[in-house]
Formats: sequence, structure tokens, C-alpha cells
Amino acid sequence: MRNYRQTVGVEINIFADAPALATGAALQFITCASLAIARADRFAVAISGGSTPILFFAELAGAYSAMLDWQKIHIFWVDERCVPPTDAASNYRMAKEQLLDHVSIPAANIHRMLGEEQASAAARIYEAELRDFFVLPSGAWPRFDLVVLGVGEDGHTASLFPATAALHETEDMVSGNFVPKLNAERITLTFPTINAAACVLVIASGANKSAVIRDVFDTPPHVDMLPMQGVCPREGELLWLLDAAAAAGLNDMAS
Ligand code: 6PG
Repeated sequence: MRNYRQTVGVEINIFADAPALATGAALQFITCASLAIARADRFAVAISGGSTPILFFAELAGAYSAMLDWQKIHIFWVDERCVPPTDAASNYRMAKEQLLDHVSIPAANIHRMLGEEQASAAARIYEAELRDFFVLPSGAWPRFDLVVLGVGEDGHTASLFPATAALHETEDMVSGNFVPKLNAERITLTFPTINAAACVLVIASGANKSAVIRDVFDTPPHVDMLPMQGVCPREGELLWLLDAAAAAGLNDMAS
């Protein structure tokens, strides 16, 4: 049986270390933004939380900020914890502190998931916001210009964790998802939404990710065990950016 890498046709770029990876991710963001703004006069991007994006956000907020037309950039989230926006665990708070407070993006362009609400209610509210922003006819999926994902050591991405209900959602764009291992509710984009994107960028750094990345790429797809393997853009680009430590488990990079 073909492995994930053979199945989805993914491009993998490897960088020497985490700072180089962050620069590579920033340059990819700029490329996607420039293309989207040239084509549609706006750039709709969904970002993840966690620790990996911190250096990436700092690059966008610093050296590369002037290369972006923030007035035309719309920031959405891939997922959010069910906490207030001021909570230390909030993905919104991290992005605000590391990026949004440092660039001239209009408040109306910041599309926060309402972590302070009950997960399923927040998911319905966010789905309505997506339908409104993308002006979607019934049955259509929002096509983000870019979705930036991380990967957990357990193979989760967004808040799509192994053996959780949202993995199998095929109708809703956004879902509440109870995560038993965390004993917590999350709000997350679903696979159909992620896979409708024009470009999905996965960034991963550190030796602690090498085993799961090897398993994601080199084993046959089994989304309930390795949700990352459910990321397969239907009509879009899938690009993985890794530092050497995270890529250490990959063999035969040529194929
Ligand atoms: C979150 C993220 C999550 C993250 C992975 C990797 O809410 O935590 O959206 O999906 O991307 O857990 O996290 P790290 O970057 O911290 O390894």
C-alpha cells in the first residue's frame, strides 16, 4: 500500500534550524499573500497556535512586515482552545502578542474564534463568519489562500486529535471537538475546510517531531491514529517546511 507521501504528492523543504525554518515560512506567507492580493485584492489565511509559529510570527512582525499589505490581509484561526482571549493558552492571545499587535492590520481583518463561548456554539458562529466572508453558496467550502498547520507528537493537527469525533466531520466547516486526553473542548476547522485551501503549509521543528513525521510520511494513511494524514488539499498545494531535527526520521528524501 502506498504511503502518505506517495499518496498526496507533498513537497518537503528542509532548513538547517528553527530560525531558518521561520524565515522560510515567512517567505512562503509573503508569496501566498502577494499572489492572493494580486488576484483578488485580499489574502485570507488561517493560522495555528502552539509554539512552532512563534518564531515565524516574529519574522512577519519584524523584518518582513513592510513587505506585506496588512490592510488586505485577513487572519483567521485553524483552531482555538475553549478559553477567554486573554488566557495564556489562547491561540488568539499568542498571535496578538507575537504578531497582530506589531503590524498595521485593521481590527475588522482579525477573525477570532470565540474561545470564551461553548465549543459547538463558537463553531456555529465561526462557520457563519466564514460563509459571510467568503460569500458562500449552499454546499460550497471556504477556500483559504493559505492554511498554516503544525503537527503534534501524537499526529494531531489543528484540534483534530487521534480518535476524536471531529476527524470524521464531513458537513460542518467548523466543529467543536472534545479531546479526552486533554479533558477539554476545542474549536477546530474540519478536514473538508482545511483541504479546500489553495495552499496548506505545515511547519514543524525539533527532534521531538521526527518520529511522528516519519510515521506520517512513511506509513499507509490511518487518520484515526495519525490525523495529520487527513491533510490532503483537494485542489491546492501541500508544502511541509521542516528543520533538520524534525526531518531526521525521514528516509529516501528523493522519492
Ligand atoms: C494548537 C495548535 C496545534 C499545534 C500543534 C503543534 O492549538 O495547539 O493549533 O494544532 O499546531 O499542537 O504545536 P507546537 O507547535 O507547539 O508543537
